[in-house]
Amino acid sequence: MSVEIRPAEGKLGILLPGMGAVATTFIAGVIAARKGLGAPLGSLTQMGTIRLGKRTENRSPLIKDFVPLADLSDIVFGGWDIFAESTYDAALRAGVISPTHLAPLKDEMEKIKPWPAVFDNHYVKKLHGEHVKQGKNWMDLAEQVMADIKRFKEENGLARLVMVWCGSTEIFLQPGPAHQSIAAFEQAMRDRDPSIAPSMVYAYAAIKMGIPYANGAPNLSADFPALLELAREMNVPVCGKDFKTGQTLMKTVLAPMFKARMLGVSGWFSTNILGNRDGEVLDDPESFKTKEESKLSVLDSILQPQLYPELYGNLFHKVRINYYPPRGDEKEAWDNIDIFGWMGYPMQIKVNFLCRDSILAAPIVLDLALFLDLAGRARMRGIQEWLSFYWKSPMHAPEVYAEHDLFIQLMKLKNNLRHLRGEELITHLGTEYYD
Ligand SMILES: NC(=O)c1ccc[n+]([C@@H]2O[C@H](COP(=O)([O-])OP(=O)(O)OC[C@H]3O[C@@H](n4cnc5c(N)ncnc54)[C@H](O)[C@@H]3O)[C@@H](O)[C@H]2O)c1
Repeated sequence: MSVEIRPAEGKLGILLPGMGAVATTFIAGVIAARKGLGAPLGSLTQMGTIRLGKRTENRSPLIKDFVPLADLSDIVFGGWDIFAESTYDAALRAGVISPTHLAPLKDEMEKIKPWPAVFDNHYVKKLHGEHVKQGKNWMDLAEQVMADIKRFKEENGLARLVMVWCGSTEIFLQPGPAHQSIAAFEQAMRDRDPSIAPSMVYAYAAIKMGIPYANGAPNLSADFPALLELAREMNVPVCGKDFKTGQTLMKTVLAPMFKARMLGVSGWFSTNILGNRDGEVLDDPESFKTKEESKLSVLDSILQPQLYPELYGNLFHKVRINYYPPRGDEKEAWDNIDIFGWMGYPMQIKVNFLCRDSILAAPIVLDLALFLDLAGRARMRGIQEWLSFYWKSPMHAPEVYAEHDLFIQLMKLKNNLRHLRGEELITHLGTEYYD
């Protein structure tokens, strides 16, 4: 039995709070793909296939032909930033895509300009912008965000919307009394409670309007009982947190391999140099703390030291990010991994990933927007754990642990798609051995 999914008819508005390196690289890539100037590499929704039925059946359609996804030509972009420059100027400044590649996209990108942001320097210490909304409290500001969304929807004749947070990493916050119920949260919004951060204001506005929400940063944002309750009440799918792009992507591939082979790990030292604005923001210890928690969380849940104390009980895990302007967006990550095998003999692995941060993140923004829109049309609500594949800190139900292993995450994602279309789930059980 397949699930009823409303068709992807009409235009899809993608709302981006934060129009910096990742968001503008995403926009540029989609416009380039529409013009036939670049393929959407790295995007599962655009390039990926899905095996259906038995291996002998040879059925492996493209994912975008298997489930009804919005077409790239139907996407319209909108968003907010504390800097007023157009997405073309922001992309030039971010320096991810070369001016030559940006030139044919200029006319379209110049027209996409951010609306004034909900911002407070207390939550992102390193940034100072002028393009900011004024309001008497958080609720007033949320209403202004909702008015922006309504106007954007009407002006562009949009059928549906999704929101993907691409703004900066905020200071480390933990859920407190204000986050426990919708009523407490709304009261705290009116009281301008400091435990509410701008990313929560956008998330509230989206969910309240029935718009699916994804959180690309490690910020708390929507990951607490009040907004999850609101999401269930409004039938809104949500997911997060923190795009899994470079070093952590590697970690969630290597760690399952060590565990699969019962190899021990005594230490994992990860360091990065990064010179873009994200690197500058993370140079503030309070924002770094939010990122650090996110980056540290993966190993414990993959390696399960409580089940394998001999192998992983004494693992020393350290993560550093150093702001180094000469590299811009071209982040370099080093990992030194100390492992041990048969009879306890030690070995080392060195990983040196010379990546491009926003080039890795942009296709993830696209996939999340399209899959969340699909989830909305399939009436899925609350946390979308099947999208854990994309996250460093996957949001999950309180009674279960997060799934970090990239290959389990991919299987979960694809089985969810099979389930939506009434196809048999693939368990990899070899039934040919049995009568
Ligand atoms: N590979 C990656 O690039 C990657 C991976 C994981 C997570 N992230 C996260 O994605 C986010 C975006 O990364 P980026 O490289 O584009 O950073 P960026 O600094 O280039 O862009 C972030 C933008 O958000 C804006 N902003 C900050 N607070 C805002 C607010 N309250 N409202 C509206 N705009 C606001 C900033 O002015 C800036 O233009 C960061 O939080 C980063 O940690 C990026």
